[in-house]
Amino acid sequence: MAAKGTPVTKPTLLILPGDGIGPEVMIEVRKVIDWFATQGLAFEVSEDLVGGIAYDTHGTPLTDATMAKAQAVDAVLLGAVGGPKYDTLDFAVKPERGLLRLRKEMDLYANLRPAQCFDALADFSSLKTDVVAGLDIMIIRELTSGVYFGEPRGIHTEGNERVGVNTQRYTESEIARVARSAFELARRRSNKVCSMEKANVMESGVLWRDVVTEIHAAEYPDVALSHMYADAGAMQLTRWPKQFDVIVTDNLFGDLLSDLAAMLTGSLGMLPSASLGAPMANGRPKALYEPVHGSAPDIAGQGKANPIACILSFAMALRYSFDQGAAADRLEAAVQTVLAAGLRTADLIGEEGRAPVSTSDMGDAIVAALAEE
Ligand code: IPM
Ligand code: MG
Repeated sequence: MAAKGTPVTKPTLLILPGDGIGPEVMIEVRKVIDWFATQGLAFEVSEDLVGGIAYDTHGTPLTDATMAKAQAVDAVLLGAVGGPKYDTLDFAVKPERGLLRLRKEMDLYANLRPAQCFDALADFSSLKTDVVAGLDIMIIRELTSGVYFGEPRGIHTEGNERVGVNTQRYTESEIARVARSAFELARRRSNKVCSMEKANVMESGVLWRDVVTEIHAAEYPDVALSHMYADAGAMQLTRWPKQFDVIVTDNLFGDLLSDLAAMLTGSLGMLPSASLGAPMANGRPKALYEPVHGSAPDIAGQGKANPIACILSFAMALRYSFDQGAAADRLEAAVQTVLAAGLRTADLIGEEGRAPVSTSDMGDAIVAALAEE
């Protein structure tokens, strides 16, 4: 407790619910945030628009004012962006551009995507239970460069046909900083890093492998490092995922491999992510937290969405932005408790045909379990 009269500055959190199921899962996160506030862990929360809803309201998927707010807060929590309604929009104003602008301008180069199999859900994976039970791997995806942002890009005409161009481009320093993030994280886990690229066909892959090898030799010789071509890595991820601890890879391969790794665990609806940049003046990293799943327009507004990925994204914020590891542990344990008790949203119902609980019931159950931890 602060002494009487002492101004207390609460850490600041900007919530961007976005589109599709984003707003409904975020309502459940708000319940969790409110619960922590009753325990003396309070945040200054503000909310704003991103994605299709921002386009509908302001004609842009992210206004300059929202961008400025995101730069000023301690952490951003985002729901999801996009939907079929926006498919035909020009690239420059597509909902996804809002998210990409946040990543790029906040320079969130290290995207942490854990793929963790919850004991209660091991049966739910499409792989055999012994392949996934106890799985706990972390994919670190480079998030601010590579083919997502490389120039030149565009569609132009050559002769009588159109040509689509994107450029895969990485500088040494871009590779080095994400490699360091991977090695640092590995030291706090099982001390193993596997780096994935396509050095057999791409120069950017050759450079990637060289730089990761150099950083390892110079700064992290204690960490076990291996390299894999990304296609072989995809195969190994489905064959025996438990051989991995930390995987570090580029933006595009990371996009694919993290969806694959997520599905190993049974449901995309379970997995959080953290996108981290350089430390700010207050020592906290620039940070944006979001579920790995998308906006799922097909089930939006029906109370079917699983709020767990978004709730666990807030747990990652507690851990990586606010140094509240114990609170994060407690929230993760509450999620385990409700799953162990058999609560399932529709995405977690397999052959057994049990009745699903709604998005809001799942949120309430997690808050109830928190109170009992
Ligand atoms: C992701 C998503 C995004 C990406 C989209 C929504 C732009 O698939 O975060 O993995 O491709 O990075
Ligand atoms: Mg993706």
